[in-house]
Amino acid sequence: MQVFHHISSLREALAAERRAGKRIGFVPTMGNLHNAHLELVKIAQKNCDIVVTSIFVNPLQFGLNEDWDKYPRTLAADSAKLESVNCDYLFCPDEKEIYPNGMAEQTRVIVPTMTDVLCGASRPGHFEGVTTVVTKLFNIVQPDEAVFGIKDFQQLAVIRRMVEDLCIPIKITAGEIFREDDGLAMSSRNGFITADERSRVAVLNRMLNGIKQQIEQGRRDFTVLIEEARNQIEVAGFRVDYINICNSRTLEMAAHDDREITILGAMYTAGARLIDNVSVVLA
Ligand code: PAF
Repeated sequence: MQVFHHISSLREALAAERRAGKRIGFVPTMGNLHNAHLELVKIAQKNCDIVVTSIFVNPLQFGLNEDWDKYPRTLAADSAKLESVNCDYLFCPDEKEIYPNGMAEQTRVIVPTMTDVLCGASRPGHFEGVTTVVTKLFNIVQPDEAVFGIKDFQQLAVIRRMVEDLCIPIKITAGEIFREDDGLAMSSRNGFITADERSRVAVLNRMLNGIKQQIEQGRRDFTVLIEEARNQIEVAGFRVDYINICNSRTLEMAAHDDREITILGAMYTAGARLIDNVSVVLA
């Protein structure tokens, strides 16, 4: 695997690949890689000739009181994991490389409305940071296809909308959620879950699946379903950020006759904010 820290040298190498007719796949990450990330790399490998993974803990998408400073930086271990699945290129720039004019002066990319709800409501500015850095990374790598995990469902929807609205010629592919045996979605933030909390955190996934089953059985009293799930999560000892039942495409509150619905949830443990979602397609 070739490792690049600078935009210019990565671009040079990728230009040669492009000239040779190679289809380029891209997996943007913030590192602290786990199996779900490696599955995204494998999807990119299946669909493309060469794969670039980026690791950049993007300060622009973290709020002032969030965990940017304690977000795990595990470059050596990440590199070894990427080598083990034969990733071709790793791009790991520093902050100066991505934001040479400073973050305050950085041109921003904003996807309105759908970033105001769910995670966007509790993390103001978060998606602006994501869409800005992803646009920069897209322009640096210029991939044919980019792969994102469905666990960050809202992020995926926002990026799809951005690509559509800005006519960015990149295919966006989604990678399934990878789960621990009890249903907990794999996440770089799971390392912040305490041993005491670990046996209880799967309640988030259990509640979302419970709502899904109820919807499949015909229930449409969404506010009651949400309230019941919130209560169960609180009983398990966690603070709920949100539980919402949404139209899968718009992320607006689902209407009773919507056929494609996603149930999304976020909750706080002592040291982490965990998110998860499950989707249902009704016949
Ligand atoms: O999902 C992530 O890890 C990040 O939000 C991303 C897409 C790499 C942008 O920093």
